[in-house]
Amino acid sequence: MKLKKNAPVPTLAEERKHILNDKTPFAAQEAYKNLRTNLMFSTAGDGCKVILVTSPEQGEAKSTTAVNLALSFAQNNSKVLLVDGDLRLPTVARKLALDGAPGLTDLLVGRAKTNEAMRILSNGLYLLPSGTVPPNPVELLGARQMENMIEFLRKSFDYIIIDTPPVNVVSDALVLSPRADGTVLVVRQGVSTMKSTEEAIRKLEFAEAKILGFVFTDVHSEKKHGKYGGKYSYSYGRRKSEGETRNNP
Ligand SMILES: Nc1ncnc2c1ncn2[C@@H]1O[C@H](COP(=O)(O)OP(=O)(O)OP(=O)(O)O)[C@@H](O)[C@H]1O
Ligand SMILES: [Mg+2]
Repeated sequence: MKLKKNAPVPTLAEERKHILNDKTPFAAQEAYKNLRTNLMFSTAGDGCKVILVTSPEQGEAKSTTAVNLALSFAQNNSKVLLVDGDLRLPTVARKLALDGAPGLTDLLVGRAKTNEAMRILSNGLYLLPSGTVPPNPVELLGARQMENMIEFLRKSFDYIIIDTPPVNVVSDALVLSPRADGTVLVVRQGVSTMKSTEEAIRKLEFAEAKILGFVFTDVHSEKKHGKYGGKYSYSYGRRKSEGETRNNP
């Protein structure tokens, strides 16, 4: 399967609709706090934690989840770097109404310095956008320079959150996953099936990625929770095979 580059491009308003802000419904804010807490516990230990965000298929809300996760960690006084590692269909900078270049790719090929490629969003939140779209994303992400860059950046941050393309479509996230401390798999109701989710898990495990848990997005719950049902029923949890069930159903 190929990335659908000709899929209708969401408007800026649509892109930003689910990014955390003052008007975000309470249930969604709480769901992200839960996700943050769960990730803090599942990556406990000293030093910076590098967390990869991916999904089985396209359009499952990976980038939205990555941005919100970074905002949520920063709100909790952590120093966070959000990296747009989706070099094919980058949207993180657009979701934050910023320029996407220069960024990661320019830094990797030596065309920009760290202070030119990185944006300071607030006191504890930094963005490394994707940069100029390259012809060879997998090679670039798998290159020694990328590994060195992550190790170098670890020294300056508490969390590095990396948005990536879908694992069942291209191998970019699989190439990056061994460099991370853990991977979060975003699964959207109506997009990923059980089969495609299992395929993604198999691929990630083969790449020796540590799957930290799942984020279920756009969940249409039968039962409305007060006035905040439907799309804000995010969930997070570990796999049942690891002896735990997902919480916040
Ligand atoms: N919880 C949600 N409920 C409904 N729509 C959502 C939700 N989260 C994000 N969206 C919307 O879904 C669309 C796709 O989201 P996003 O760009 O985060 O997906 P993606 O997985 O990164 O896509 P791609 O595979 O193209 O990188 C956007 O228009 C976004 O606003
Ligand atoms: Mg995306």
